[in-house]
Amino acid sequence: MIPLAIPDLKGNENRYLTECITSNFVSCVGPFVNRFEDMVATASGNLRGVATASGTAGLHAGLVAVGVRAGDLVILPSLTFIASANAINYCGADPWLFDVDRATWNIDCEQLAQQLEAETEIRGGEVIHQPTGRRVAAIMPVHTLGMPADMDAVVKLAKQYELPVVADGAAALGAADKMRPVGALGADLTVFSFNGNKTMTCGGGGMVVGDDPILIDQVKHLTTTARKGPGYDHDRVGFNYRMTNVQAAIGCAQLERIDELVSAKRRIRSIYNQAFADIPGLTPFPDYSLANANNRSSCWFSGVLVEDADQERILSLLDHLQNCGVESRPFWKPIHLQEPYLHAPKNDLRVCEDIWSGIVVLPCSTGLLPEDQEQVIRGLLQTVSN
Ligand SMILES: Cc1ncc(COP(=O)(O)O)c(C=O)c1O
Repeated sequence: MIPLAIPDLKGNENRYLTECITSNFVSCVGPFVNRFEDMVATASGNLRGVATASGTAGLHAGLVAVGVRAGDLVILPSLTFIASANAINYCGADPWLFDVDRATWNIDCEQLAQQLEAETEIRGGEVIHQPTGRRVAAIMPVHTLGMPADMDAVVKLAKQYELPVVADGAAALGAADKMRPVGALGADLTVFSFNGNKTMTCGGGGMVVGDDPILIDQVKHLTTTARKGPGYDHDRVGFNYRMTNVQAAIGCAQLERIDELVSAKRRIRSIYNQAFADIPGLTPFPDYSLANANNRSSCWFSGVLVEDADQERILSLLDHLQNCGVESRPFWKPIHLQEPYLHAPKNDLRVCEDIWSGIVVLPCSTGLLPEDQEQVIRGLLQTVSN
């Protein structure tokens, strides 16, 4: 079976893990945590980073740090992994859901501008969502599949409405837009995930990056049980969201090879996109970065969009692929169709619905062999022609 997305641990992972064991630094304190924070901040174009137990934990701590509180709304594209919405929910807030742009699968900034104008008012210095009377507290763009959202447009609106931006860049380390690395596109905080299926992994883990020392100190404080000083004084309800030295050791080894890993992902995307470009009924995954050297998607997952397909057709297609020795998956079901968020305020979400139901994610491990990718393409083309 050709697996969907497995890690590539051929660098210094073993050596660094042995260092953790021999030095007895296996917990949350240790040199690899600090090193990993510095390395990720540099790679993302930021001054500081705070390592967390997961990307979800990082998103939660980031939202609390920018002031999201119970009852608030946070602007979110509906086409995202449920963790983005869950992090909002952990604050006692709800997502306010927006559609995505068909070309990029990222938040539709025209709809965002229109709906902010049509449905909010400024009251007492706060942005109020008129239909619900709730405060809009932040914007969470998602860099879907590692392609940067249109952050110029997001940041312009954020400034106009004085809203903080916490970007979900879970899979976007290594991406850039107009030569600016993904953490330097204007968000107050950007959050990465290093779970097992990401381009680079720590086994599990996350990182919050930013440039404002006060905000980053606040994230650090929140993720370390809000402890003040060496005693057991805690000045608010914080979280135990720290990353361990063991996770960070793997992360350091992985990050040393980030260029190689991202290049492999981009090569895989480009091969799939060429193979599916002229096949009627198939649409390649978005990838303006291949046509424009300034914009660089990290191309986390790759696959194909089967036009006019519903989930039933996609699930039978996945079964056929399984029989051809190919592991494949559907993609994130939009948040507005998920049981815990059926009540969340939303806009017209037809692009999200159109796209998600036809997506097939195909094997895209950084170590995918060319002959295996050919087998995947053959299997997919056979399956869709049946
Ligand atoms: C878009 C997005 N946001 C958040 C997360 C959550 O990250 P983690 O699994 O590290 O909690 C993921 C993980 O896959 C993701 O893809």
